[in-house]
Amino acid sequence: MSPAVPVREGYATIHGRRLFWKVAGASGTAGTLVTLHGGPGATHDYLLSLLDLAERGYRVVFYDQVGCGRSERTPSQDEYTVDRDVADFEALRRELDLGRVHLLGSSYGGMLAIAIALAHPTSLRSLIVASGLASVPLTVREMQRLKRELPDDVRETLDRYEARGEFQHPDYLAAVQEFYRRHLCRLAPWPPEVQYSLDQLSIPKYGTMNGPNEFTIVGTMRNWDVTARLPEIRVPTLVTVGRYDEVTPTVAESIHRGIPGSEFVQFENSSHVAFWEERPRYMETVERFLRAHP
Ligand code: ALA
Repeated sequence: MSPAVPVREGYATIHGRRLFWKVAGASGTAGTLVTLHGGPGATHDYLLSLLDLAERGYRVVFYDQVGCGRSERTPSQDEYTVDRDVADFEALRRELDLGRVHLLGSSYGGMLAIAIALAHPTSLRSLIVASGLASVPLTVREMQRLKRELPDDVRETLDRYEARGEFQHPDYLAAVQEFYRRHLCRLAPWPPEVQYSLDQLSIPKYGTMNGPNEFTIVGTMRNWDVTARLPEIRVPTLVTVGRYDEVTPTVAESIHRGIPGSEFVQFENSSHVAFWEERPRYMETVERFLRAHP
């Protein structure tokens, strides 16, 4: 980060919980881009390559969603819902006086960004769905297909321990890592920020909403599906996906088809974190889109 780009961080109390935020760049710049991390339960850190856009003149905002990272945990897991994350975004946008923003959501953050575009369309200038989803059932079907395409020994290990419900067995976790190396992040080693967000995954939130791992979504969001409502979204939208993405190109195409006039860009050497795996091209793509929708 060049010294010319100021970075501020702090906490805001939103719906009674302290949320950690970080803002790079000043207001009055080319525009404000708010970023939403995935998981649900990860942290903002794995999105920090998007600081490149602050170098390119944007004010870039990161925060940890409730129950995640440096933000407050809740005593009851009932607070971990998509609706709560939608309401928190809107309240934080007002609290930090961000005005109408460009919104980029990654993975679950992309799903959340779609929910925000449906609930608060006038808060947004544009929407970027980065490896996001509009339907958990479709995503699960696609992830199961990717699992079937794994090498036999890996797939058999996964099946064996899943049948026993032994999701923490070291052999099972090693096989899960094989899936992640192919479909979550194809860089070796992983960028420290990506590793950190995974290491810090909020088990209460991830376990409640998602499930034991990326391709076993059995939590409260398992039936979430807003595909039929996508045509309601009227803000300019960019959908990005990696060719090897665990949230597959089929899922991304379903979003692109649903949102009138949306753009679709596939990153051929990427899986789930193209903003690291093909960082320069990713930033150019987003910057071009943002400049077209000031
Ligand atoms: N678990 C997926 C993510 O948010 C959907 O990364």
